[in-house]
Formats: sequence, C-alpha cells, structure tokens
Amino acid sequence: MRRASFSTANTICMARVKGSSVSGPDSGDRAVDVALRLAEELFGFGSSGATPGWVRDRVRRYLEHQSYKSGLSMNEVARELIKDKAAVEQIVTSLRVGETRFYRDGAQWEVIERQLEKLFPADVELAVLSAGCSTGEEAYTMGMLLTAARRRFRVLGVDRSAEAIAVAREATYGREAARDIPPAWVERFCDEQNGRLRVGLLVRNSVEFEECDLVKRVPQGPFHIILFKNVLLYLTTQAGEQVAMRLANELEDGGLLFSAASEVLRLRSMGLEPLRLAPTVTALRPPKRRA
Ligand SMILES: C[S@@+](CC[C@H](N)C(=O)[O-])C[C@H]1O[C@@H](n2cnc3c(N)ncnc32)[C@H](O)[C@@H]1O
Repeated sequence: MRRASFSTANTICMARVKGSSVSGPDSGDRAVDVALRLAEELFGFGSSGATPGWVRDRVRRYLEHQSYKSGLSMNEVARELIKDKAAVEQIVTSLRVGETRFYRDGAQWEVIERQLEKLFPADVELAVLSAGCSTGEEAYTMGMLLTAARRRFRVLGVDRSAEAIAVAREATYGREAARDIPPAWVERFCDEQNGRLRVGLLVRNSVEFEECDLVKRVPQGPFHIILFKNVLLYLTTQAGEQVAMRLANELEDGGLLFSAASEVLRLRSMGLEPLRLAPTVTALRPPKRRA
C-alpha cells in the first residue's frame, strides 16, 4: 500500500472515497476502530478514556485518503494496516504531535501569576518542566510569565517528537500565535521576523528543550512546577498512571503539577492530592506519605 502524509490527507476529495458514505453517521467508524486498536497494540498509543474526536477525525482522514488512492474501501485499507506496521507507526507519530498554543487555558496562567509569590518565595530560583511540550508554546508562556514576574528560573520542555522539539528550539511562530498572549508580553518578549513572531533572547535564554519519551524516562527534578497537560490522552491507562506518578515524584517539596482541567479527576483517581487555587483551577501534589 502506498503511503500518504496527513497534510495531503486533509485535502482529499471526500466524495470519491469508495465503499463508505463519509458523511453518514457510520462513516468508516469500524475502520477507525481497527486502526486505533492496532495503534494501541503495536505502539502503546491509547486514550485513557473515550478517544477524543479529533484523534478519530485524523485517523479517518488518513483512511479516506488511502482509500481514495488505492481504490480499496476504508475497511479494506484498515485491514491492510495489519500487515503494515510502518503505516501504523506513521499514524501514531502524527497523532502524537499534538495541538498546543501560547497561553492555553488563560485562567490557569492568571492564577499561577497571581499566586506565584505565595506558592514559591521570591528568592527561590524556580525549576519548571513542561512534560509533553509539543512545539514549545507552553514552555515559552511559562518563560514569559516568570520573566515578567522578575523571577530567576529554568524551564525545560520535553517531548517524544523530534520534529516538535526542533520547532520549539527555533522559537518562531505565525503571527496568529500571539492571539492569546497578553499584549504587554508580546511587546516585551517577542521579536518580529519576516512577518513571523520569534520569542526573544531574554526568555529563550532560560528555556531549553530535549527529546524524551516520558514512558521510558522522566527528567530528573526536583521541579517546583510541572506542566503535564493534554498528554494523558496519548498514553494507555497503565502508561499514563506510571508517567504521572513518576513526574509527581520529581516535584520539589511544595511543588505543584498542573494538568488540563479535564484531566484533574483522572490524576486524583491515581492518588495525586488536589490543591484548589481558584474555582476553576486545581493543581496536584504527590500522594501524602503515610507515616
Ligand atoms: C496535545 S500536545 C500538548 C502540548 C501542551 N502540553 C499543551 O497542553 O498545549 C501533546 C504532546 O504530548 C507529546 N507526547 C505524547 N506522548 C508522549 C510521550 N510518551 N513522551 C513525551 N511526549 C509525549 C506529543 O508529542 C505532543 O506534542
């Protein structure tokens, strides 16, 4: 079977996909299930709960594109994947390069900014980990926040995707990336370069990136803050739990782990202790050690 990239898969002519009504409610659902099952069996790609819609959509688009190119039905394409481990890996790699943006979940950043000094005294040099940092926006947001707060700090961003880490190190983004960043930060911390936005040296100097598969190892702490957001959905239940607990063990005394709001319950069910910082913002701490 010939392969296609997801970017071309996005542009396919949906009407010509054989053997599936792509707009109907059942459009390729079984084929998507087969592909996701293979992704889990062969590469441990799993969702710790219901598979998010965008994951199913991307897999569906891939299958549709292959179907269009090969003349096979989507179900036949999915069955072919059983013999084509490399194609399954291609799907998994693409799914793991996730979506991110600067100042994502604004309420969380506002709370961190407001309560920073109360949580971590001003003279402490802060160590921050962005675990599953994708293309770097989360790590740089933290860098801007801490620079604005006049803190001494280091931020380490890690991700298993080499491509994502390369983009993060480049620190250059489309203008629209500035959309959610507080305007004063854009003014102070970003440079305009050929119509694009580059995070300035003042922030870049304290932020570094490293390729790292969290399932294999987690970076050594201690960290005052760990951002572990929107990564659980890429991991099987068991792997997700292991990674979360290992990360929690790398927290400094009094350190906090931040997840996406939708992940708090799951992390609590693993034994992490909640610390409610605001009505909509809860941080997590390692399980209490029993005496
Ligand atoms: C949706 S992005 C989240 C980015 C950022 N944390 C945020 O919330 O905006 C998920 C990232 O997790 C990374 N990832 C998935 N599995 C991983 C693993 N086992 N080790 C390290 N990173 C992983 C993906 O490559 C992807 O860049």
